Amino acid sequence: MYIIFEGIDTCGKSTQIELLKKSYKDAVFTYEPGGTALGKQIREILLTGQPDSSRAEILLFLADRAEHFESIVKPNLCNIVISDRGFVSGMAYAMAGNDDISFDELLELNLFSLQGVLPDKIILFVIDKESLMQRLGQKGMDKIELRGIEYLLNVQQFMTEIIEKLRIPFIKINATDDIEIINRQIINFIWEQK
Ligand code: TMP
Repeated sequence: MYIIFEGIDTCGKSTQIELLKKSYKDAVFTYEPGGTALGKQIREILLTGQPDSSRAEILLFLADRAEHFESIVKPNLCNIVISDRGFVSGMAYAMAGNDDISFDELLELNLFSLQGVLPDKIILFVIDKESLMQRLGQKGMDKIELRGIEYLLNVQQFMTEIIEKLRIPFIKINATDDIEIINRQIINFIWEQK
């Protein structure tokens, strides 16, 4: 089973994934971008200022995704693979930054990178504007976060639309809820539909 955690920066995905490790000791925990050796190099390029071309940026994220799928997700599909981000980020961040690239083009590119395999379940975190502003103010920002609040809120909107359009089972998590409550919601969701 392939599960991805999605949500814009600061939504608390990483905290929840850390908590989940206690409940799913045999699962494979991974992330994009950077979950493989090649991916680490790509991540460095992506988050430190290069490239100028947004299409080059999308293709680099896709190269990371293809490598990640081949070497981490695919060999472990008989187990539980839990990834911090996946193709929903790939499509939503690209859609929010480029109105000249269509949903269908992005879907095709992402399916290519994933050998046609979409996640079985998605945990989607959503955050309100005020909390996002507060949380972003408390941390250093990478190249993508520096694009601003409206960009990130747009990404968040696209994430919901993409998941609903593709009809992938998902749970929407309110990022400002209590950490323990969120943890229980996630475990129930993973368990329920097994
Ligand atoms: P992270 O901070 O969750 O590790 O993700 C790195 C940044 O890259 C984050 O701002 C989201 C962004 N991103 C994309 O723009 N496209 C993608 O395909 C992925 C996976 C992440």
